[in-house]
Amino acid sequence: MALDQRPVEKLDRAVIFLGPPGSGKGTQAKVLAGKFGVPHLATGDMLREHIAKGTPLGQKAQPIMARGELVPDSLVLRMVAERIERPDCSHGFVFDGFPRTVAQAKYLGEMLRSQGFKQPFVIHMVIGYALLIRRLTGRRTCKVGGEIYNIYDRPPKVDGVCDNDGGELLQRPDDREEVIQPRLHAYEKLTSPLVSYYRRLGALHEIDASKSVEEVEQEILQAVASMRGAR
Ligand code: AP5
Repeated sequence: MALDQRPVEKLDRAVIFLGPPGSGKGTQAKVLAGKFGVPHLATGDMLREHIAKGTPLGQKAQPIMARGELVPDSLVLRMVAERIERPDCSHGFVFDGFPRTVAQAKYLGEMLRSQGFKQPFVIHMVIGYALLIRRLTGRRTCKVGGEIYNIYDRPPKVDGVCDNDGGELLQRPDDREEVIQPRLHAYEKLTSPLVSYYRRLGALHEIDASKSVEEVEQEILQAVASMRGAR
């Protein structure tokens, strides 16, 4: 039976998507979480929700995200800790955009151990710079259901309209070219050290994220299946 046709199995751990802005973390994390029936925890989406609701956290995060910088660890860690304590996370979850600093990774390791989870699987999305720019400048997201499109590579059937629910497709404010550079810089400086951090723990699995969405999805499913078989 093809991997993606198997019935839902338990994940029982955290899967972390690690990769630069635009590498396809959100696109793939959503699919993987759906296959295992576990929550997709995207810290960027959670922060954008706080901004939309005007919460104190959202008010602090908004100017920082608009500049393409990282939100301070203390704020993000509190938000994540509250989320993974909820009962729907008891069989595992898929992180998209978290952890993003070594301090966040260490804190997460402690949280997972204290809740009885095994070591996380880390999917490292490997991709070149030119493709990232194309993906970020071309991305459009449905205002209603959050479906992700790309005007170059994954266009909707009707310009500006979501195929699923007819929602308006919007460009993220941080996908403007002047904000993309600081985001890529923040990734290089603060997040890319996590590649060697997780490699040393034997938890890292590299995926060629430059392939098509479907090919990347298959590669991830194979990696997760082999990781689960090995432990
Ligand atoms: P966040 O929302 O996490 O953004 P990001 O990491 O910059 O990643 P993106 O969402 O831009 O890209 P992605 O890799 O998910 O790609 P996607 O699947 O959408 O963070 C935003 C901000 O929040 C940060 O800058 C920071 O300020 C703050 N923040 C968040 N988490 C934080 C944390 N832990 N600590 C501190 N601050 C934090 O795909 C991109 C495009 O490519 C789409 O158009 C898609 O359709 C297309 N695409 C995807 N895959 C393919 C493919 N295989 N082939 C062709 N096109 C593809």
